[in-house]
Amino acid sequence: MITLLDRRGRAFRQFHSFTWAHIEPHSTQRESRSCKDCHQDPKVLGLGFGHITIKNSTLHFEPVEKPFAQVNATLSQVGTFEGKALVKFNREGMRPFTQEELERILKVGLCLNCHPEKDKIFRTWRKNIKCPRLGSFK
Ligand code: HEC
Ligand code: HEC
Repeated sequence: MITLLDRRGRAFRQFHSFTWAHIEPHSTQRESRSCKDCHQDPKVLGLGFGHITIKNSTLHFEPVEKPFAQVNATLSQVGTFEGKALVKFNREGMRPFTQEELERILKVGLCLNCHPEKDKIFRTWRKNIKCPRLGSFK
């Protein structure tokens, strides 16, 4: 709960909101994160814990946590699949991924289920790349 005070210290407005703070944990190591770690994980992408599914050739996200009613967000989520921010941020310019960005990132995640990390398809990637095995998925 956020309470706003006037100059005399009297509360004049209250509302519910989560604020996410930027941190740099300095967890330096030789190994980088794996491709799947970012490209397949809805938590890493700001959607929160849940499952990514494909229905009718389109990507969907199904959360596993229940949202808090007052803010309509779960504790692990910063935005919706449509790119709407559900929390506030402590730095100017911070934002969740847009739907277009999420679709691009998750498309790579789908390919990683069959194509290994070092496959040449990732080096010669183009926006309209298609798999001969995936049929209608764009
Ligand atoms: C730390 C997280 C992270 C890791 C690890 C990572 N990626 Fe990405 N990748 C991203 C993000 C975020 C984008 C989208 C950037 C944008 O749209 O501006 C992206 C974009 C891409 C794209 C371009 C997609 C497009 O349509 O423009 C490809 C291809 C890709 N990644 C492949 C890989 C591969 C292969 C690996 C592993 C060798 C990998 N990525 C590892 C976060 C990551
Ligand atoms: C279910 C497993 C599977 C998934 C998921 C998959 N692929 Fe493939 N893909 C294959 C197989 C197997 C081949 C090689 C056989 C063939 O050419 O039919 C292939 C071949 C390809 C080729 C042509 C091979 C080449 O080296 O030129 C491209 C390009 C490609 N895939 C892109 C993609 C992209 C992009 C995605 C993600 C959107 C994707 N694939 C997801 C199984 C998969």
